[in-house]
This record gives sequence, structure tokens and C-alpha cells, in this order.
Amino acid sequence: MRNLAKTVFFSLLVILAFAGFANFVVPQLQPAAPPEDEVLDLSAMTMDQFVALGGRVVEGKGTCMLCHNEVGGRAPPLSETVAQIPVRLADARYEGSATDSASYLYESMLEPSAFVVAGFGKAGSGDTESPMPNVSGSSIGMSEAEILAVIAYLQDLGGEDISVEIPEDAGAAAEDEEEEDGEGREPFETVEEIIDEFTCGACHMVAGEEGDLGPNLNAIGGSRAHDYLRRAILDPNADIAEGFEADLMPDDYGEQMFASELEMLIDFLAGLQGEGSEP
Ligand code: HEC
Ligand code: HEC
Repeated sequence: MRNLAKTVFFSLLVILAFAGFANFVVPQLQPAAPPEDEVLDLSAMTMDQFVALGGRVVEGKGTCMLCHNEVGGRAPPLSETVAQIPVRLADARYEGSATDSASYLYESMLEPSAFVVAGFGKAGSGDTESPMPNVSGSSIGMSEAEILAVIAYLQDLGGEDISVEIPEDAGAAAEDEEEEDGEGREPFETVEEIIDEFTCGACHMVAGEEGDLGPNLNAIGGSRAHDYLRRAILDPNADIAEGFEADLMPDDYGEQMFASELEMLIDFLAGLQGEGSEP
């Protein structure tokens, strides 16, 4: 009897643990993280290391998963991209200059509007303009080596042979990436840096950036006070701005930002009154 009770209790625990897991862990592409103390030999980076670098860029600096995730459904899943490339290149609407998988992926990242996947264009553009930013531009700022590493990663993810070569500066790019990942960073000191690093501009018009998956923030201070702004950043799904989708804005800024950064950002947004509005 005791044993039975124990077994039942243990099974309940396991079920609860899984239920919790299913509720809180969002399914995402998650390449295995490289071991912490991996030593990078600059002269001889292997293709596996290069692919791993691409995976870290996709998950981190590239901010690709903000949009290419299974939750928001605002961008096609990257795990299926490579398989779709022959279909894209054969599409009557395709007018870009890519000829194969690597050149298509390259073009998709640097000139997202060269071809817009049907149904994913900017609202009202009839699928001629992509909401995806150029990944080498100011909001994301990927280097050439990082872009090539992402191509290698996506080809590997799609089960295709990798057709890009490892550039000479790949080792340096990997070192930068490790530093960026590093815990214990110093707080950013200017609001431009904060907006840049947390890529608000990928989705919002703000501070000269042109994102349009979320509301234009250039005059947000005219209608929203500090408390509202704080909640909008820390708990985006608490209020959903009219005409926009829930579950799209990242909900973990509270864990990523220093309090000083959050307050600086809120003060800045509250001060954005737009042209012609009364402060
Ligand atoms: C702000 C949202 C956003 C971000 C950030 C973003 N993308 Fe996209 N991406 C999209 C959307 C929307 C599309 C579909 C429209 C189009 O074809 O341009 C797309 C299309 C693509 C395509 C073409 C897919 C196909 O099936 O033809 C590739 C490849 C791609 N993205 C890669 C990336 C990579 C790699 C990153 C990160 C370095 C990234 N994207 C970041 C929104 C985004
Ligand atoms: C992946 C896209 C995305 C990113 C990145 C993003 N947001 Fe948003 N944001 C949205 C969307 C979509 C909404 C509208 C839905 C909602 O209210 O949650 C929104 C809503 C907001 C609102 C509320 C606006 C209103 O009128 O109610 C504020 C303020 C805001 N975002 C600020 C930020 C700031 C600051 C950052 C960077 C730290 C940021 N967002 C990053 C997509 C994004």
C-alpha cells in the first residue's frame, strides 16, 4: 500500500513537471549550445564550429527568432526555408538575382524585399515589401562573416550540403559573439544604444528606425504615461495596442534589462510627443 501511494505520488510529480514544462517552454529552434570553455583556434575553425556560430547568431544577435518563431506566425519557419528555395526561385513573382540556395539565403537577409513570401508582406503592400529588416543594417548589424555562418547554419538545419566557405575572419566573429553572449555586461548608457541592442526598431518606428510590426512610437508620449509604458515593455500582453497582434513583442525584457536602462527608455518614450502635439 505504501509503495502504491509512493508510485502514485511520483507519477503525479512527473505529470505536473511535464505540464509545467509544456506551459512555460515555448518551442523554438534550439541548436545545442557549445560547451562554455570551447577554445577557438583562429587558424582552423571547423565547419561544425562555423555552423554553431550561425546558430548563436540566429538565436542571439540576429534576433531572427523574434519573428521566425512558431508562436507569432509572422514569418515562415527557418527550418523549412532551404526546402522551399527551389519553389521560390521558380515562382513567377521572383525577380531577384539569386540562382541557388546560398545566394537566395544571402539575398533574403540583405534585400528582404527582393522576394516576399506570399501572405507575409507589409500590410497593404500586396506582398511587395517585406517587414524584415536588412540584417546588416543598423537595427541588427550583422557582419559578412556572421551572415555566411547563418547561411551555413540554415543549410545544415534543412539537411542540405553546406555550400559556403568559412571566411578568414570567422574566428574573430566567433570571439565577438562569445563576448556578446557573456553575462555580466555593463548597463548601456544611452537610449540609442538601448533601442539598438534590444532591437525595438525591428518592429517599431522609433529613434529613426522603421519597423512596422508594432505601433509607431514616435509620438507615444503624447498618449501614454510612464506607468503604461513600463507595463507595455515588461508585460506586453497586458494591453494589446489596437490593430496589433499579441504574443509578438518579446516578454522577457524585464529579465534582460537593467533597471537603469528600463527607466531611461521609459523617460525617453514618455518624452516623444510627435510633431504639433502639446507636451
Ligand atoms: C522583424 C521580423 C523579422 C526578423 C527580425 C527577421 N525576419 Fe526573416 N523574414 C521575416 C518575414 C515577415 C519574412 C517573409 C517575408 C519575406 O519573404 O521577406 C522573412 C523571410 C525570411 C527568409 C526567406 C524565407 C523564404 O521562405 O523564402 C529568410 C531566409 C529569412 N527571413 C531569414 C532571416 C534570418 C536569418 C534572420 C535573422 C538574422 C531574420 N530572417 C530576421 C521577418 C523577419
Ligand atoms: C518582435 C517585434 C517587437 C519588438 C522587438 C518590440 N516590440 Fe513593442 N510591440 C510590438 C507589438 C506587435 C506591439 C503591439 C501589441 C502589444 O501591445 O503588445 C508592441 C507594443 C509596444 C508598446 C505599446 C504601444 C501602445 O501604443 O500601446 C510599447 C510602448 C512598445 N511596444 C515598446 C517597445 C520597446 C521599447 C521595445 C524594445 C525594447 C519593443 N517594443 C520591442 C512588437 C515588438
